[in-house]
Amino acid sequence: MVSLSSLAIFGFSLVSQVSATILQNGQVRDTNFLGTRIDPSAYSFKSYPANATEISYKGRWDSKYVSWWSAPGIKFGYTGQTVAITFGNLTDHGVLIGYRIGGLDWMFTNVTAGATHLLVSPETPGSDETGPINPWTFEMRVTNWAYGVQISAVHVAAGEKLIKIPDFGRRIEMIGDSLAAGMYTTYEGLSSWAYGLGAGLGNTEFSVTAYPGICAADQDCWGNPRGQVHQWFYTSDTSYRASVIHGDNPEPWEFEKHPAADLVVINIGTNDNNEANNVSTEAYIDALTKIIQGVHGKWPKAHVIVMSLWLGFYQSGNTYLPEAPEGWVKEIYDMVQWFNSDDYLQDPIIYDGVTKETSKTGKKAEPFVHYFNTTGIMQHNDIGPGWHPTDVGAIKVASHLQQFIRMTFGWDLYATGPEIYHETLYWNDEPNY
Ligand SMILES: *[C@@H]1O[C@H](CO)[C@@H](O)[C@H](O)[C@H]1NC(C)=O
Ligand SMILES: *[C@@H]1O[C@H](CO)[C@@H](O)[C@H](O)[C@H]1NC(C)=O
Ligand SMILES: *[C@@H]1O[C@H](CO)[C@@H](O)[C@H](O)[C@H]1NC(C)=O
Ligand SMILES: *[C@@H]1O[C@H](CO)[C@@H](O)[C@H](O)[C@H]1NC(C)=O
Ligand SMILES: *[C@@H]1O[C@H](CO)[C@@H](O)[C@H](O)[C@H]1NC(C)=O
Repeated sequence: MVSLSSLAIFGFSLVSQVSATILQNGQVRDTNFLGTRIDPSAYSFKSYPANATEISYKGRWDSKYVSWWSAPGIKFGYTGQTVAITFGNLTDHGVLIGYRIGGLDWMFTNVTAGATHLLVSPETPGSDETGPINPWTFEMRVTNWAYGVQISAVHVAAGEKLIKIPDFGRRIEMIGDSLAAGMYTTYEGLSSWAYGLGAGLGNTEFSVTAYPGICAADQDCWGNPRGQVHQWFYTSDTSYRASVIHGDNPEPWEFEKHPAADLVVINIGTNDNNEANNVSTEAYIDALTKIIQGVHGKWPKAHVIVMSLWLGFYQSGNTYLPEAPEGWVKEIYDMVQWFNSDDYLQDPIIYDGVTKETSKTGKKAEPFVHYFNTTGIMQHNDIGPGWHPTDVGAIKVASHLQQFIRMTFGWDLYATGPEIYHETLYWNDEPNY
């Protein structure tokens, strides 16, 4: 049996960029990262600054248009067949981004600080299609949580323009650690269950406030200086990059300037549960409770889904069994029950992560905290050698959550075609194999 204390659900990275390899059943996958860097002086562009109202920012971006957390992105409509982006100096060196036209497949390229990258041109597959998505849309997402980009300018061809795309009418927020951030899935954030849930629901705005190694409790875990009970209230994450760019003055997230989420999915505690981080049950439940009270304070109408924790599996004789003990199963369930008790709902408490104050709302609340039982969704081979869901594991978690949300809240599934998970087309080409 593998000792849990040796497992690190983390990934804190002081190290600079290393190139990784995607493995499929142990075999190396060929990747196709496009070379997109250009010399902008050779082009005739119409350029828009990062603060152009036509550009919609998805996930958390700071006042300097620097991206944070997992799978942050931008989206806009455009005319013509040209889209280029100039990345500001606060971009990391060599950040893998995914980008696409409409609902077509994601393409990937490595971008860098101060460089201009031509992402759509007449040679880009699909760039000459005129519908059915109108206006034509461009979407970009950063794949890795620890690296970020800064948008300096967006360009289209001279005589063409950007078009503002209105936000979808529903909105979901994910709060988590490496399990939600997509650690060890093929395209990281863009292969995570959190992204898959948001994108897979369709017609849904989503934000993945998740970072590898982070605890719920406000303490250092695997080198993350703060826990989510603090950091969720801030724009930037707990990366080394954040300490360089924001130092001791991170920007509080301006909840009042962004629309409220309708649903908040919380999957956090595996790092608290790891004995290396020495978080007591009381400290963990207190932090998780405050995160939920924080959500309720910022977004009084949001429903919260708390996921039970899962650990890995180990081989036991001729089968596999879950690692035991499972993480705080009873305590999390009891906390959810408490939030749904009359005791709590008659006189709810809210928490402000910046001022650290708790207060009473003075308003009776309807039940808003739901329990999502993850037991039985993943099996031993849905967890990779790095103790995180594989792409298949992530897809299973996302799919079960989608159905849970459809059945609990009546949300229709609107994504009926566009690519969600890139390079997951595995099949056998012989009918009688
Ligand atoms: C991106 O570029 C950096 C710097 O050239 C390189 O180290 C890294 O391996 C590249 N990443 C990918 C995924 O190609
Ligand atoms: C963008 O920033 C520039 C420079 O600070 C400012 O002049 C302009 O009004 C801003 N535009 C918008 C749409 O906020
Ligand atoms: C990056 O910094 C250099 C040197 O300070 C400056 O000349 C350049 O304009 C900056 N580029 C961008 C895209 O901000
Ligand atoms: C773990 O926490 C307990 C209680 O706060 C403390 O007494 C103990 O020294 C801590 N252990 C480590 C290794 O930090
Ligand atoms: C979670 O699901 C497992 C498997 O179906 C079940 O044994 C367990 O009782 C469930 N937990 C709760 C709190 O409903």
